Amino acid sequence: MVAAGLLVLSFFALALGAPAPNVFRVHDARSAAPAGFEASGAPDANEVLQLRIALKTDSTQLVQRLLDVSTPGSQNYRKFLTKAEVAQLTAPSDDATQAINAWLKKNDVTATPGATNQWLNIELPVAKANAMLGAEFNVYTHSTTGVTAIRTLAYSVPESVQPHVDFIFPATTFPVPSSRGISSVYISGAFHNSTHAARADASCATTITPTCLQQFYNIPTTAATQKTNTMAVSSFVQSFASKTDLSNFLTKFRTDLSANTTFSVAAVDGGTNDETKPSIEGSLDIQYTVGTATDVPITFFTVGSNNDGDLTGFLDLVNTLIAQEKPPSVFTTSFGFPEALVGSDLANNICNAYAQLGARGTSIFFSSGDSGVDDGQSTACTTQFRPTFPSGCPFVTVVGATQGAPPESAAKFSSGGFSNIFSAATYQKEAISGYLTLLGQTNAGLFNTTGRAYPDISAAGVNYQVNIGGSIASVSGTSASTPLVASMVALVNDRLVAAGKPTLGFLNPFLYSTGASAFTDITSGSNPGCGTNGFPAVKGWDPVTGLGTPDFNKLLKAVGL
Ligand SMILES: *[C@@H]1O[C@H](CO)[C@@H](O)[C@H](O)[C@H]1NC(C)=O
Ligand SMILES: *[C@@H]1O[C@H](CO)[C@@H](O)[C@H](O)[C@H]1NC(C)=O
Ligand SMILES: *[C@@H]1O[C@H](CO)[C@@H](O)[C@H](O)[C@H]1NC(C)=O
Repeated sequence: MVAAGLLVLSFFALALGAPAPNVFRVHDARSAAPAGFEASGAPDANEVLQLRIALKTDSTQLVQRLLDVSTPGSQNYRKFLTKAEVAQLTAPSDDATQAINAWLKKNDVTATPGATNQWLNIELPVAKANAMLGAEFNVYTHSTTGVTAIRTLAYSVPESVQPHVDFIFPATTFPVPSSRGISSVYISGAFHNSTHAARADASCATTITPTCLQQFYNIPTTAATQKTNTMAVSSFVQSFASKTDLSNFLTKFRTDLSANTTFSVAAVDGGTNDETKPSIEGSLDIQYTVGTATDVPITFFTVGSNNDGDLTGFLDLVNTLIAQEKPPSVFTTSFGFPEALVGSDLANNICNAYAQLGARGTSIFFSSGDSGVDDGQSTACTTQFRPTFPSGCPFVTVVGATQGAPPESAAKFSSGGFSNIFSAATYQKEAISGYLTLLGQTNAGLFNTTGRAYPDISAAGVNYQVNIGGSIASVSGTSASTPLVASMVALVNDRLVAAGKPTLGFLNPFLYSTGASAFTDITSGSNPGCGTNGFPAVKGWDPVTGLGTPDFNKLLKAVGL
């Protein structure tokens, strides 16, 4: 979005019947549609648009409270906020509510409450939206994927509401079609038949099973006991998971577990789970959560709205979790976007929603991406490293990948780098400056030294054995590392709850301080990309493997168990 200082003052005739001309301000404008999108004509004037108004709220207090409950040593450490407390911290001012209601009323538009109090939903025909917002909604078609979207390149709002509106969504926010957008797994190796048994132990250097991971990281096989300690697993772009495949996976790789051990499914935005079409990503995520977080209750959240790479699904899933009275203690997502293709307003809004969820006590994990210092777009990266989203959000824990049996080295696809939207978090400033000193002039000018740096931690991510539609495939990616780490934290939480203690919540301030001792530093390998060797893994934190790989026993010790 255009910053306030750059706003162009402009006047628009109001819709017929409006009492007096009003000063409108261009609230958001882009010079052109993103590359690949072409305007392909005006939509039907009567077509109904569903728009959402994001209200401006000051997140300073929310972030303070988040850090207060997440920083070891703080008096309020792990005293998480209730839903009502978070809602109060994010509530728009009375002035904002009044001004916006008056504006909508004048235009005869009725708003319905959004997922949280920061959002209002409106529905109105294209013609009316054009008039009310001084906009020109057009149909845009993406040349290679055929994805279409009704969007405008600019819109305006009256001066009276301008200070209260953060942005209107999706309006100028285009989808990120999946060919270059939402990324999932990086697949390595051929599919193997399930008769081709992967043996643990000796073969852990080349094929990873739950047993290997238990051995690498001291993950217990004992079952969790606390039914209130739950984990949510995200699924986007129709990444389905099959219960039959899971059962066969457990029969083969967790012979100590009931093959009936399973997961629940929850739909967001009409998402489904067609078990006859299991995906690589959904299968991986479910098999390595159910298969390692033994008996932790797991819900697979399948999100239907963003099959075209529309960011709506990211928003709706986090807001669904915020709306729960008791959100999951762990939330893991192996999907992401190129940061450059997510507008900074939307990026900030989604990141702020993660801060709300973190304040409620949820540990949030995201994969860093599988393109080294690049972001997975199909266009060549030449001048600057390209960060991923939401890796740059300082309120989530970002997981990179390693390869091989311990001592591991960095997996070369492990995305890492520095955000161009979010600045470095206080908890990581020392880690970053230590790294930059070691790095010297390497890659100078190719990345943003002031940005939030990621990943925070890492774990094995190469050649996971996954049952997909009855066959065992070898799957690699930070998509594998992330559900694994999330599962370990879910098991730590189970023990905390059993001991009458609160769960861990937002992890990063702990990880970069008292928790660092629970991680094995990874000091070899790098993440090449953009025509460079990328960043080297070094002693201490680095933007390839973060602080290193977790050890369950050391984690227990670090949390005082
Ligand atoms: C898998 O097994 C089937 C039949 O059992 C066989 O036809 C096929 O060639 C095998 N595929 C691989 C990759 O070994
Ligand atoms: C698994 O479920 C089936 C059918 O619900 C049941 O007959 C069987 O006893 C269960 N097996 C175990 C090990 O719980
Ligand atoms: C670098 O990151 C900061 C946030 O730390 C951001 O404000 C700035 O715009 C970024 N610079 C570039 C060139 O993207």
